[in-house]
Amino acid sequence: MDTRKTLRVNEAGHLEIGGCDCVELAEKFGTPLYVFDEDYIRGMMRVYRDTMKKEYGDGLVLYASKAFSCEAMYAIAKQEKIGADVVSGGELYTAMQAGFPAADVCMHGNNKLPREISYALNCGVGLFAVDSPSEAELLDAECEKRGRVQDVILRINPGVEAHTHKFVQTATPESKFGFSVQSGAAEEMTKLLLAKKHLRLLGYHCHIGSQIFEKQPFCLAAEKCLAFMADMKKKLSFEAEILNLGGGFGIRYTEEDEKFDFESYAGYLGAIIGAVKAGCEKYGLKRPRLMIEPGRSIVGEAGITLYTVGAVKEIPGIRKYVAVDGGMFDNPRFCLYGSKYTAVLAGRADEPPTELVSIAGKCCESGDLIGENMSLPEARRGDILAVLSTGAYNYSMASNYNRNFVPPAILVKDGMADYIVKPQTYEDLVRNDAIPDRLTARR
Ligand code: LLP
Repeated sequence: MDTRKTLRVNEAGHLEIGGCDCVELAEKFGTPLYVFDEDYIRGMMRVYRDTMKKEYGDGLVLYASKAFSCEAMYAIAKQEKIGADVVSGGELYTAMQAGFPAADVCMHGNNKLPREISYALNCGVGLFAVDSPSEAELLDAECEKRGRVQDVILRINPGVEAHTHKFVQTATPESKFGFSVQSGAAEEMTKLLLAKKHLRLLGYHCHIGSQIFEKQPFCLAAEKCLAFMADMKKKLSFEAEILNLGGGFGIRYTEEDEKFDFESYAGYLGAIIGAVKAGCEKYGLKRPRLMIEPGRSIVGEAGITLYTVGAVKEIPGIRKYVAVDGGMFDNPRFCLYGSKYTAVLAGRADEPPTELVSIAGKCCESGDLIGENMSLPEARRGDILAVLSTGAYNYSMASNYNRNFVPPAILVKDGMADYIVKPQTYEDLVRNDAIPDRLTARR
């Protein structure tokens, strides 16, 4: 088995995370259960923060909270002195509830709602990443009403293709995000923003995609952004002060993926920093304040999901299903992207795998799988099954489909385990339901 920093097989042959035996966690908290390793999360935040400080100086790491947003995550980010990227009023509200400093928040979104813009301004969000002309109008008008000036950056699209799933590529010409550098749209938007009295354009943002392992597309994106900045300096006498290169660093889901440790991520960021420095030199630009927005790489490998095995069904000559008490409602990534995961029987983690199975969820839907061709020892009803690297975009994309519960989440560290998201109840499921009188009135 692949033993990541967070995980090990203990003397009992059980899977352990953050000093906690996974079989005991399942007993105590029930399943399905999201488990997050605090040390891993902090470790990754520190790697990025310290590399930025050491190798670049003037930079800021923003945790892309869409990967996993709950109050405790913002509390950790605050303690680790990094910023946060939010993409909705809901994420911002969660951050504010956790006492996160609004000044360290960057507000994203290709279609920020008027009420979200207004709420973010009321909170005093540090930076907006503007992504449409009408947003610029709306934001400017709202700031005028409030008699203030808001710092903004413009989301640009440098036209870099990264090798990742097409649903998570974001800087191709047809993307709904950003403004194309190549077509001149980014320049037009720069002019528009510079003309706004209540907006202060400070620079640019780009995010090329997610789950990317190569350094080269990031370095290329940095170089293209800097070339564009040089162009804007020449044409418009506008010298950008901020360059935000987004997130997107890959993590290990299966043995097919590269194995990155903390040092590898430092090297990754180091390469990007190198490209930024070289680009500044090449184009004669002063070094901008550099921002990055990692989400998946901070929290992805920190998280696992524990399930209990229920029905096991073999279709002779075709496949074997091992059904668990979760499914697409706690992890829709196989359904959405055909994502691959690694599974381990938590109570028999030292047993070698003997068969390939499909792990099925409990939803009334054939496609509801956690994965196909997953190697496991023979699983039996009652076994605790751990799916690894589920920390990013699992809880955050979970739903109550089939009126199943979104599982609770716990944070583990040195043998301690505490809720960070409490369990839902049946009452929670009907809390917002309403029955109009005409449905209950007697005839
Ligand atoms: N910044 C921006 C503007 C983004 O759009 C994203 C991710 C990030 C940062 C963080 O990227 P990361 O470091 O996490 O790769 N639901 C998909 C992933 C969607 C990513 C969307 N944007 C999945 O489950 O794979």
